[in-house]
Amino acid sequence: MCGIVGYVGKQKASPFILEGLKRLEYRGYDSTGVAILQGGAFSLVKKTGRVANLEREVAKFNLNGTFGIGHTRWATHGGVTDANAHPHVSSDGKIALIHNGVIENYSSMKKFLVSKGYTFSSETDTEVLCNLIAYHYAKEPEVVGENRFFASVRKTLLHAEGTYGIVTMCVDLPGEMVAARKGSPLILGLGDGENIVASDVSAIVARTQNVVYLKDGEIVRLTPKEFQITTLDQEAVSPFVDKVTWSIADAELGAHAHFMEKEIFEQPLALENSMRGRFSEDSSTANFGGLNLTASELRQVDRFMFCACGTAWHACLVTEHLIERFARLPVEVDYASEFRYRNSPLDRNTLFFVMSQSGETIDTLAALREAQRKGYRVLAINNVVGSTIAREANGGIYQHVGPEIGVASTKAFTSQILLGAMLALYIARLRDMSFSDGVTYVNALKGAPDLVREALKQAPHIKAIAKRFAHHSDFLFLGRLSLFPLALEGALKLKEISYIHAEGYPAAEMKHGPIALISEKCPSVFFAPKGEIFNKVVSSMQEIKARKGPVIAIITEGCELPPGLADEVITIPDCHEAVLPIVAAIPVQLLSYYIAVDRGCDVDKPRNLAKSVTVE
Ligand code: AGP
Ligand code: GLU
Repeated sequence: MCGIVGYVGKQKASPFILEGLKRLEYRGYDSTGVAILQGGAFSLVKKTGRVANLEREVAKFNLNGTFGIGHTRWATHGGVTDANAHPHVSSDGKIALIHNGVIENYSSMKKFLVSKGYTFSSETDTEVLCNLIAYHYAKEPEVVGENRFFASVRKTLLHAEGTYGIVTMCVDLPGEMVAARKGSPLILGLGDGENIVASDVSAIVARTQNVVYLKDGEIVRLTPKEFQITTLDQEAVSPFVDKVTWSIADAELGAHAHFMEKEIFEQPLALENSMRGRFSEDSSTANFGGLNLTASELRQVDRFMFCACGTAWHACLVTEHLIERFARLPVEVDYASEFRYRNSPLDRNTLFFVMSQSGETIDTLAALREAQRKGYRVLAINNVVGSTIAREANGGIYQHVGPEIGVASTKAFTSQILLGAMLALYIARLRDMSFSDGVTYVNALKGAPDLVREALKQAPHIKAIAKRFAHHSDFLFLGRLSLFPLALEGALKLKEISYIHAEGYPAAEMKHGPIALISEKCPSVFFAPKGEIFNKVVSSMQEIKARKGPVIAIITEGCELPPGLADEVITIPDCHEAVLPIVAAIPVQLLSYYIAVDRGCDVDKPRNLAKSVTVE
């Protein structure tokens, strides 16, 4: 949550920071602000709302300084007000600070600081950090070999409980910045005579592709020409300089109206990138170099556990279905946030997976750490290279779908399903799946991008359906087997970006309660693919129709519905079971997208949400 940018260099800081904040806006957009150190003081501009508001405000000031920090907030403590926006400045004017995360012991710190005469101008937990740094800075004598500002930040953080990614400046030290992290991402961008610190590489790649991913418990001192990383316990850290493999163009809209639209239409390519180089030469199975597990180790596994949140959790449910169906091994899927507190019994031969697009979701990270603490090897399916989850996992599979900027996940979702399907194949081929069934499966997966291209051609038809139903306020999404998770995902997408109440259910379960919602005002979106359960799903549609509920049916080619049963029909290509959930995602993504556009919603930045949830 929240975007962070800090700049120390030779150019004007504010244009670069504003540009970076625009790229980070998807991380939080309640309020924004910048602090530039110039003329021996902080020039501070803060505004509720979007970066565009801040930009207009900044234009009124003469911000020429070359050192500064900027923030987009996702409020946790204190309302969405200008005063609560970051940066915060200590009451003595010495320290400016931006923060991502939650300081859990802020009340006791605040009480202490108030007793020492510090005053507060916001309701945030964050403000205690800059006042406590100011307190140490004013109090502590110069420590030999350590700069006093740096020492004050370090001391403050040793008292802080909770999570943070912070960047802070001291008015007496122009050209110097201190940043530290615990539980929230921070990345250094190493430029030419300038250094950057940000919560996300997208704010950095415009200037440099050389980055260092900070780890939890690390603190860094940055100047335009150098940086030194140590741990909070003062141990030196030798940094590993990584190269970002994507460029700024990958994070731009191009001809699309929204990132969500761009990312939906990018899916054929994204799927190709996710599967590239990951099939065996004889095309009968999948290969995953990064699992760090031999075939015989994998043979020992007799159960799988998957943890994730939101859309990634839906992708885990599809994976569960595919592994159980093809590899015939039991799979359990849990919400990461529940798993970490549930203390569920796991047996010794369980292999643990987490799935996360961002790799920064705090609940998923906590589940990973809990499983590792119990001695399990944890593998990750993750998109963002160098993310905390990617680094802490014992191995895993990168999705390689490029940056996903739209808050509503689309291309990351279908790629996670694809990788889940490939994992199911890999495990199945170590067990009972025959060579020829493997070849059929691989060929089906290789054909998925084209089938998705085909499904995307339904966009104009789906747009018209969206127009017809955009002003309904309740929807049901119903599916069975591997498409039940798709019903959950369809409902989530609609809720997220259109603010329409929607629920996903197994189609047959609908009559055990949700059917009470049915009236001509509540449309039901059914997944009715060809196969053994087609007739059962049709019966569920009849039950809805008998109660005057509008029916939108998503069927596969070659299926025939009784005349008059569905109000609208969307036909997708018929495909292999392992590919079906990928192709079936397209119509529900498009439906929610076009409904949101029709309702005038801010598709890429839906209210109250943020792209990656880095607080509990
Ligand atoms: C997806 O549309 C949502 N915005 C959300 O549910 C998301 O999938 C969830 O927060 C998990 O994110 P992650 O994949 O980055 O861990
Ligand atoms: N807890 C801080 C606040 O509410 C930081 C929130 C964020 O990560 O944006 O201001």
